[in-house]
Amino acid sequence: MTLKVRNPVVVAENGDVRFVWLGLDESEAEKGILANQYLLVADGEALLVDPGGYYVFERVYKNVVKYVDPEKVVGVFYSHQDPDVTGSLNIIEDFFPNAKVYVSAIWTRFLPHLGAVAGVKMVELPDTGATIRLGKRNLEAIPAHFLHSPGHFNLYVPDLKLLFTGDIGAAVFPEGEWYLYVENFDEHAKYMEWFHKRFMACRKALDKWLARVEKLDLEVIAPQHGAIFTGENTRRFIEWLRSLGPVGADILG
Ligand SMILES: [Fe+2]
Ligand SMILES: [Fe+2]
Repeated sequence: MTLKVRNPVVVAENGDVRFVWLGLDESEAEKGILANQYLLVADGEALLVDPGGYYVFERVYKNVVKYVDPEKVVGVFYSHQDPDVTGSLNIIEDFFPNAKVYVSAIWTRFLPHLGAVAGVKMVELPDTGATIRLGKRNLEAIPAHFLHSPGHFNLYVPDLKLLFTGDIGAAVFPEGEWYLYVENFDEHAKYMEWFHKRFMACRKALDKWLARVEKLDLEVIAPQHGAIFTGENTRRFIEWLRSLGPVGADILG
């Protein structure tokens, strides 16, 4: 089996706003769970979205600078605290000196344990959500708590009708399988089921999130693991979550 290196892909674009998937080296799966990292560029400024752990950082950095100067990266959005999201925090400042870190207020006292972050400005996202300014645009940090992290946020980009969902929508591919976009939803759902049943905290949290997200105008759902949903598959994903039944603590024991 040949493991491939995948180049970055512009997932969505509208005028001066673009959302870029930052590539992949399939051999990364030998070290840890495959994760998607993204870059949102708006009006010449950029936000890194879940840039990932230490061992993917070189690939992430090389792909970011194809789209934007590192000085123009003004922020890093962390959906939550996990190592596959935040593991490179202690080198962010060296490579992206102007980047503030946006993360749930409940995690800012834990993240310094990752190392030298004295010069990093942390912006605490309150439980109720927040608006993040990038270029001339407003982005929405949407609460998605307990899905799975107790301090978990999605990022909505109105200009692109795109929702980055962190661990919601994660798929774990079997060995040798990988694709960037969901094409066959029913087949793809098999790769999502275990993760959502085991990791999502409870049905109540999922239902609260669904009620919020169903009001959004959506064309793209981009998760931190697995594949991206576009068009009709965004609606099918939401329906799938609604019909998933009990999850997490609901099925303990
Ligand atoms: Fe996670
Ligand atoms: Fe994750």
